[in-house]
Amino acid sequence: MTRRVRLPALRCLRYEVAFNGWRILKETINDFSLWRLIEYPWCTEALDLRQGDLVLDIGTGTSTYPHMLAREGVNTVILELDAERVRWQRRKAEEWARPGAGKVYPVVADATALPIRDAVARRLSAISSLEHIPEDRPVGREIGRVLAPGGVAVITVPYTRNERMDFFKGIRRFRRVASNAFVQEGKAGSFFRFYNDQQIEETYIKPSGGRVVKWGAFGRRILNGMYHETKLTKYWRRYVIKDWLLAKIVHPLEERFGRATEPLYVMFKIVK
Ligand SMILES: C[S@@+](CC[C@H](N)C(=O)[O-])C[C@H]1O[C@@H](n2cnc3c(N)ncnc32)[C@H](O)[C@@H]1O
Repeated sequence: MTRRVRLPALRCLRYEVAFNGWRILKETINDFSLWRLIEYPWCTEALDLRQGDLVLDIGTGTSTYPHMLAREGVNTVILELDAERVRWQRRKAEEWARPGAGKVYPVVADATALPIRDAVARRLSAISSLEHIPEDRPVGREIGRVLAPGGVAVITVPYTRNERMDFFKGIRRFRRVASNAFVQEGKAGSFFRFYNDQQIEETYIKPSGGRVVKWGAFGRRILNGMYHETKLTKYWRRYVIKDWLLAKIVHPLEERFGRATEPLYVMFKIVK
């Protein structure tokens, strides 16, 4: 039996440096950030991956996650709506390919109508991507349709228990367009939604035909309330090494002792 694939935060950082050079530690050039240093290790563990496995990743953007998985011997199909980002991923798949590594297959695809046959996906991920899709109900149905019996879907989405009237207030201009949904002013297509428990259940869990076997969360009073949704967020993409410390030290403490406060994101693993 091949070994279980793990992607601890430090290894994610090492891969980022290997792909982009040391400058990435000073200022990241993709979506890599503190949250990814929490999400990638958690999702990789939850996907229960072994070398040779295949992951379908929805809304990959310019993430290096599939390339990290490739270096660990895992194959990924990138399902991304933005053709420019898919072209970027194709170039990177060629540039970063290594003999014996897993493969990365970037495809232009709309998560509301996936170009995938029924019941074939054994491993599926959607990392900080579904909150950007206004029509999310069909996405949940599509995930349920493509998942094979026994298949695993790992999803991370923003979370709230209440009605949020603002987001990044006084820091970035987000306009409220519906209940818990916002659009960034002047940035076309930058839709962002928070989910409550009932919406997660109705949009993703029920239509998947599976059950949630694991929950995680991140971004509470310190990491979100004192850092991310404050003016300090301007350091978000800078000095990435600080993110490793925050992910390794503050995040576990917050999840152990700060669970009374609401997290910014939840992560869940569905098994069909
Ligand atoms: C925040 S980025 C993704 C972050 C990425 N998963 C990571 O790990 O860094 C969200 C991505 O979702 C993509 N997206 C938006 N709507 C989509 C849709 N209907 N189908 C597939 N991808 C979509 C966007 O183009 C964007 O690249």
